Amino acid sequence: MKILLEGKAKKIFYSKDKEILIQHFKDDATAFNNKRKKKFVNKGIINNDISANIFKFLNENKINTNFIKKINDREQLIRKVNIIPLEVVIRNYTAGSLCSRTGVKQGKKILPALIEFYFKSDKLGDPFLGEQHIEYLNLCNRKEIIEIKKLALEINTLLIKYFKDIKIILVDFKIEFGKLKNKFILADEISPDSCRLWDISSKKSLDKDIFRKNNGNLLEAYKNVSERIKKKYNEI
Ligand code: TMP
Repeated sequence: MKILLEGKAKKIFYSKDKEILIQHFKDDATAFNNKRKKKFVNKGIINNDISANIFKFLNENKINTNFIKKINDREQLIRKVNIIPLEVVIRNYTAGSLCSRTGVKQGKKILPALIEFYFKSDKLGDPFLGEQHIEYLNLCNRKEIIEIKKLALEINTLLIKYFKDIKIILVDFKIEFGKLKNKFILADEISPDSCRLWDISSKKSLDKDIFRKNNGNLLEAYKNVSERIKKKYNEI
């Protein structure tokens, strides 16, 4: 298979159909803009599974995504879209860079959810962007920003419930959109690599913060999320 691109945690390959790509999940984890790196054996298999289940759920709930189907342990078929170089972060509780940037204590509920944009650029270290910067850089126009924010909130509402039903708090998460025939399409992945997930009772992290803070067993936590999803939602 010919490779289209390799990211930090995934590779994208061409398929026989020019409108369809193959998304491959690697075992690599990175944090702090690639400064910390580690391989976690089989993380890619777990994330492929979790992300496939979440995208299937979103497809079933009328969110347009680029996910078609999981084809093996590490790979899924996705529709080719033009990715908008924006990382859209939705926050339901304070954590991470929001706390370090504002001095607010971790774990406070945010209502309504906060939406932030970051410029998807490894070279620049994914800097925070204001909405006017997005317009200035011609990444999206005003109307498109409003549309992305509306979609992000719809996805947030669906996912808060999805995780609540498996006794997990969706603290925050990052999503990316592509465009296809002038429509916004949810793309990339949603997994413990791209979300903060806390166990409802212990409030322990079940996500990549374990690697960022080096304070637990990452694979066990990811497996725990995957097993809860399988048990509740009768996985793919
Ligand atoms: P932050 O608090 O570090 O800004 O992260 C907010 C959310 O976005 C968190 O769930 C982790 C996710 N995220 C990514 O998926 N990729 C990234 O490069 C960063 C910085 C955060």
